[in-house]
Amino acid sequence: MYSKEKTKELQQLTGELIKKQKAGQLTKKETEKLREALRFHEYRYYTLNDPLISDYEYDQLYKSLEKIEKESPELITPDSPTQRVAKGLTKGFPTVQHLVPMLSLDNSYNSDDLIDFDRKAKESTGLNKIEYCVEPKFDGGSISLIYENDLLTRGATRGDGVEGEEVTTNIKQIKTIPLSAKFSTYGIQQIEIRGEVLINKDNFKKYNEKIMEEGLPPLANPRNAAAGTLRIKDPSEAAKRNLEAFVYHVSFYTLLKGKKTPVELTTHEGSIQLLWDLGFRSPEKEKKVFTGIEGVIKYCNDFEEKRDKLPYEIDGMVIKVNDFALQDKMGMTSHHPRWAIAYKFKARQGTSILLNVEFQVGRTGAVTPVAKLEPVAIGGVTVSSISIHNEDYIKEKDLRIGDQVLVERAGDVIPQIVKSLTDARKGNEKKIHFPKNCPVCNSKLFKEEEEAVWRCLNIDCPAQAMERIIHFVSKDAMDIRGFGDANVRKFYELDLLKDIPGIYTLDFDKIGEMEGFGQKSIDNLQSAIANSKKQPLHRMIYALGIRFIGETTAKTLAQAVGHLLDLKKYSLEDLQNLEDVGPKVAGSIHQFFSNKDNIKMLEQLEKLGLQLKNEKKQLAAAGNLSGQTFLFTGTLPTLKRSDAEAIVEENGGQVLSGVSAKLNYLVVGEDAGSKLDKAKKLNTVKIISEEEFLKMIGKK
Ligand code: IVH
Repeated sequence: MYSKEKTKELQQLTGELIKKQKAGQLTKKETEKLREALRFHEYRYYTLNDPLISDYEYDQLYKSLEKIEKESPELITPDSPTQRVAKGLTKGFPTVQHLVPMLSLDNSYNSDDLIDFDRKAKESTGLNKIEYCVEPKFDGGSISLIYENDLLTRGATRGDGVEGEEVTTNIKQIKTIPLSAKFSTYGIQQIEIRGEVLINKDNFKKYNEKIMEEGLPPLANPRNAAAGTLRIKDPSEAAKRNLEAFVYHVSFYTLLKGKKTPVELTTHEGSIQLLWDLGFRSPEKEKKVFTGIEGVIKYCNDFEEKRDKLPYEIDGMVIKVNDFALQDKMGMTSHHPRWAIAYKFKARQGTSILLNVEFQVGRTGAVTPVAKLEPVAIGGVTVSSISIHNEDYIKEKDLRIGDQVLVERAGDVIPQIVKSLTDARKGNEKKIHFPKNCPVCNSKLFKEEEEAVWRCLNIDCPAQAMERIIHFVSKDAMDIRGFGDANVRKFYELDLLKDIPGIYTLDFDKIGEMEGFGQKSIDNLQSAIANSKKQPLHRMIYALGIRFIGETTAKTLAQAVGHLLDLKKYSLEDLQNLEDVGPKVAGSIHQFFSNKDNIKMLEQLEKLGLQLKNEKKQLAAAGNLSGQTFLFTGTLPTLKRSDAEAIVEENGGQVLSGVSAKLNYLVVGEDAGSKLDKAKKLNTVKIISEEEFLKMIGKK
């Protein structure tokens, strides 16, 4: 897309723009240059995954463009990077016709199927060797895009293949889809392209974590998350999910007057290259061309081995006859083209029988139904037990004991029941009844009105105490190896361990007397416990098992404080000023830190040698500002504002644009105004002078 020279040129341009931006000298004149630079950096960041400037620098340039466009709206173009963002809600998704029906693909599952496909291809073309282009089969939601006169004019879902839903606004949120592309340089006036919208595995994990923190059941797989997001009514919410897209097929195009079909559009390989060169993310790097089917088979098998290492989900490979003239000759059925076939990888779904449901009490007293299944092997792992979340979920999916169920285990996602196969019911399946009393301590269960979860409210319920300890030592929390659920339960039942601080005062002489504990396992456990004291603060926060606090929020909190007990001083409002902390999460944190027993426990843990301080803030004292946020106000005695900000960035810190709970330091000069007042009110911001600031980075 961008040649070496062009990249260099745009880097230089970016440097100049950043300089001007810092000096407050960006004007209308730079509008198109800003756009060009921003488009380039979006491409580097999202499509190539190889950014050349910091997020902060990008944001500053973006804000400058936004400002110029706000002052002179006549300058706005539909493909300006600012035009991805839409305000308000989408009313509905009108039905639209695809220019060419979006057919499906025929499937194959082994090398014999592929050899058969090759035989038929040879027969129908009369050739004795055929050239194939092979690429991944992306597992997301299919889309079609239309560009007219180089502008993206419509994005639609597949729908029934003939008609889909028009979801242009949500599609514009996807940064790997260019809002404009120079098709005209290939003589193309209008073009329809097909592709797949995906959510990468990391973003999917984060998304599921977030909805689980809110007490909602997670999505079964990234495919549902991607397809569902396309149809979400709030485009800003769609933008937050960070969808990505691959495009892999040109289904229709018209030429500009007097132009001929470009050579790129005579083979599939060429079309993938053309799309890549125009700035799309096509499988340019992943595709491979083979003459004959043998190489194809090997490539498919090699790719299957790499499957888990890819950042996104694929469910197979697609083999396409490379030459478009041959494709035309082979034609299609009403369901699929004859010139292409999908090679499906081992399924990550399987069917099983729902044998029984057990009810488990978690660390917050939530009672979770767990489906016990006839063991089923999926993608090399045997699944026999799956959380079915809550009573509403059971009703919604109409799950019954004795049902045949479809189970999915997508990559490293926790297995889920996708659905009950209701057609296979015999009539003797039983409804699932939720208990009225705690299955462990027998106290009555309660449910809040808008909640789906039944809870045991007895804080002395042994199940809760045990689960809190189990969570604390678990892999994603303090990662104390060798503890394990069974040991926690054993120690608890023998009165050797009653609460979290008890982990650090375990009586190893007594444990040594127990059956099954040799000196080696005791030594290992002892050193794992000792090592856990060095775990970073965010793990410790997550380990506390505060309701709604998953790993992401734990990181946000760890970054905001100098010491964990600072959170005692945070008001509900302070908490809500933190990233992604809404009223529910803030309420839960506030409640935790207002409880004397919890504070006592934390003080005890600190005395026992656990890390309650934010390490990064200590690093800051040594001249590194990483993880720290700054804001300058008033006239500084020696530094220009832009130089002071540059110093922060050079030392790894971040400059914020306003006072919020995210702010760590407000550097105050003469005539400081409302920012200072606001910071004082917040209680959490450290107010320092220029001299103190310079000391922090080791100057003066
Ligand atoms: S080509 C006319 N290529 O798989 C042929 N499809 O199961 C158009 N898919 O409906 C399809 N990756 O949504 C093609 N590299 C790829 C693909 C791909 C994923 C999807 C597509 C299709 C479905 C068929």
